[in-house]
Amino acid sequence: MKNIFYQLKRYKCISPYLLQTNQPRQPQSAPIGIFDSGVGGIGVLKELYQQLPGETFVYFADTARLPYGTKSQAEIVQFVHQVLTWMEKQVVKMAIVACNTATAAMIDRVAFEYNFPIIGMIEPSANTVINGGSKRIGVIATLHTVNSNAYLNTIHKIDPSVLVFQLAAPALVPLIEYGNIDDIYTFEVVRQYLEPLIRQDIDTLILGCTHYPHLIHLFRKILGTSVQIVDPAIAVVSAAAQELQRLGRLSDRPARCTSFYVSRNPEEFAKRVRRFLGFTPIVQHFCLQEESITVHHESVA
Ligand code: DGL
Repeated sequence: MKNIFYQLKRYKCISPYLLQTNQPRQPQSAPIGIFDSGVGGIGVLKELYQQLPGETFVYFADTARLPYGTKSQAEIVQFVHQVLTWMEKQVVKMAIVACNTATAAMIDRVAFEYNFPIIGMIEPSANTVINGGSKRIGVIATLHTVNSNAYLNTIHKIDPSVLVFQLAAPALVPLIEYGNIDDIYTFEVVRQYLEPLIRQDIDTLILGCTHYPHLIHLFRKILGTSVQIVDPAIAVVSAAAQELQRLGRLSDRPARCTSFYVSRNPEEFAKRVRRFLGFTPIVQHFCLQEESITVHHESVA
């Protein structure tokens, strides 16, 4: 009990973006862990390459259990614990939960269980839109994220006067995972989803699922320039960079290649992310239950 209070006291003194932190034990050159159910976190990884070029990353995609957005709270919390426990074994110095659904499900549950800081997707972007003066905010996200009201509650904690319109778009994650990024069918699905938000005259749209920025060109085409489209990755990575700086934990060694792991079908994942990364990564298979790793795919750009 005493320990919990001590940690809560620590928590109040640290950045509001952190889901938790304990005393760091890992070397400064240790990797940063990033995870998502699939290709969504790749956008966050690309932003990390931009803002933190000196760091090394480990990316995990839980492709065996995708999509997370339609799973129960209990299932998602269990998945997140499994992934973070695995990341702890990888000796990461920070974890970025590059999945809004996982962030929404675990935000109050995972605190203080790991010995590295954990950053979620929601709070940094909520702060960004409020500071930017948005008043009528649309949030498009998975079913779980919308039902959790995580964005609504976080935004209203900062400014209760802002109007928030939430919309679940469960059809988009499978379309993006299968690479249907540019086709007319996907455009039409996005257009139909956006109709109720357009009717609400939103001034800002938060892409509240890390998969959706892969369709940002379609969102722009449909919404035009009068609606600000926010990809939370930018604010999340900036929060991570500030936190590493503040903790004196920025890498002191040259960056190493990113390690990619998936829980199913590494060859397919390597093919899918090529279009986003611009190179074909080496992807290893990792089964969270069995804790075994096999390299299934090896090719480079
Ligand atoms: N990319 C994840 C998110 O940000 C969810 C995708 C899924 O449903 O698995 O919410």
